[in-house]
Amino acid sequence: MRRKIVAGNWKMNKTLSKGKQLVEEILSSTDASSDVLKIIAPPFIHLAAIADMVRLRTDFAVAAQDCHHINAGAYTGEVSAEMIASTGAEFVIIGHSERRLNAVESNELLAQKVNIALVNNLSPIFCIGENSEERNANIHLEAVRKQIKEGLFHLSAADFSRVIIAYEPVWAIGTGLTATSHQAQGVQNFIRTEINKKYGKEISENCSILYGGSCNAQNAQELFSCIDIDGGLIGGASLKSPDFLAIINSF
Ligand code: PGA
Repeated sequence: MRRKIVAGNWKMNKTLSKGKQLVEEILSSTDASSDVLKIIAPPFIHLAAIADMVRLRTDFAVAAQDCHHINAGAYTGEVSAEMIASTGAEFVIIGHSERRLNAVESNELLAQKVNIALVNNLSPIFCIGENSEERNANIHLEAVRKQIKEGLFHLSAADFSRVIIAYEPVWAIGTGLTATSHQAQGVQNFIRTEINKKYGKEISENCSILYGGSCNAQNAQELFSCIDIDGGLIGGASLKSPDFLAIINSF
C-alpha cells in the first residue's frame, strides 16, 4: 500500500519563531494515529528545530528543500545530505522547478543528488513537470519521461522504492492555475506506467506520486480522489495552518 502524503514546501519563508508557531498549530490540530504522512520542508536553517518538534510523532517527518551533490568539502554556503540527515530530517526535495530554473540544475546533476541523498538515508522527493511551452506543444509527457528517466531510472529497484515523486507542472506553481484533476491524473498515470515498465507492477503500485502546483484547500479533495494522486506538495497554502490542515483533511 502506498502512503498518503501532504508535504509543505515553505520555500524561503518563515522566521524560526513563526515557523515553529506554524508547526505547533499543525501538530495540535492533527491526530497522531492518522494514516496521512505530513512532511514539513522548512529552510535548511530551521531543519534541526522543526525535526525536534515532530520527533515523537510518527505521522510527521521533515524534509530539506535541496542538498548538495557532494558530501563534504570546500563549497561555501552549501549544505550536504549528510548534514541534513544529522538534523533528524528523513526526506529531501530534489529537482524542484525553481532550482532547475534559478540554479540551472540539470537532470545529470539531480541524479547525483538523488544518489547522495539515498547513501545518507534520506528519501528523495523528486520533482518533475513540464513548462507551459511544452504543455502547449503537447510534448508534456515526453518532457516528464525525460526527467524521470535521466534523474531516477539509473537506480536499482531497492533504491527506487525509497523515492517519492512530485508531479508539478511548472505553469501551475505559484500561479493559481491548478492542473485540472483530469490533467493531473492523466500525467500521473503516465508516470506510474513508465515506472511499471522499468521496475514492474509491485514497485509502481507502491510508489507515492504527489501533485503540486497551486494545490489548495478548495481543490485538494478532487485532486486527491484521483487514483494515481497520493497527496500533494504544497507551496503557498502550506504557510497558514488553516489552509494546510484543510488540505491534510482532504483525503
Ligand atoms: P504552490 O507551490 O503550491 O505555491 O504552487 C508548489 C511547489 O512549488 O511545490
